[in-house]
Amino acid sequence: MSVNIQVVFYSMYGHIYTMAKAIVEGVKEVDGADVTLYQVSELVPDEILEKSGAKAAREAFAHIPLISPDQLAEADAIIFGTPTRFGNMCAQMRNFLDQTGKLWVSGGLAGKVSSVFTSTGTQHGGQETTITSFHSTLLHQGMIIVGVPYTEQRLLNMDEITGGSPYGASTLAAADGSRQPSENELAIARFQGRHVAEITVALEKGRKSQ
Ligand SMILES: Cc1cc2nc3c(=O)[nH]c(=O)nc-3n(C[C@H](O)[C@H](O)[C@H](O)COP(=O)(O)O)c2cc1C
Repeated sequence: MSVNIQVVFYSMYGHIYTMAKAIVEGVKEVDGADVTLYQVSELVPDEILEKSGAKAAREAFAHIPLISPDQLAEADAIIFGTPTRFGNMCAQMRNFLDQTGKLWVSGGLAGKVSSVFTSTGTQHGGQETTITSFHSTLLHQGMIIVGVPYTEQRLLNMDEITGGSPYGASTLAAADGSRQPSENELAIARFQGRHVAEITVALEKGRKSQ
């Protein structure tokens, strides 16, 4: 028996994509957990992406398949990654989630495990609000929310600027996008992937034995 874990992200400049790859690595460390990486559709017109430099950045992960809302039903756990937009999830992720009404009606996501990671430009730009406000949607869908417990000691790191909180992994991109996820942040992301996978495997074993 193996569980099916999806990592579903949107990224404009690649920081969330880098974090998503670390989450995938963490899931892969767990026996009995399969993982698939997906991205959600872009909404910003090509000419705007071009002007903002995002078009070139997005080419690095153009090969990652787009997910359709119905595909979420195939997962046992879903780990969502979104950059912060004004303290909230990005519109591309909101647009995707707003197409999950059919799954809400059928209870198709109820009882599945979920988790969220994020990225901001600045240190106090809303990482925690982005993740906790994302949780409302997950609760409406009846999902079980998993964060990052303080057993991950890297959350206590005060030696450097770092993302990562009990709500989920995170990184700081800097206002101009020049900062890349640090080793501390990537390790927390790997922890999150591993933690979600371990909980999902245990949950599925329990359900199968009932
Ligand atoms: C419209 C817009 C709104 C943003 N809002 C915030 C914000 O509220 N706080 C913040 O720290 N960064 C904010 N940012 C910066 C992004 O969070 C940052 O570019 C992103 O985390 C980088 O991730 P990515 O490379 O995966 O796209 C904003 C960026 C844009 C384009």
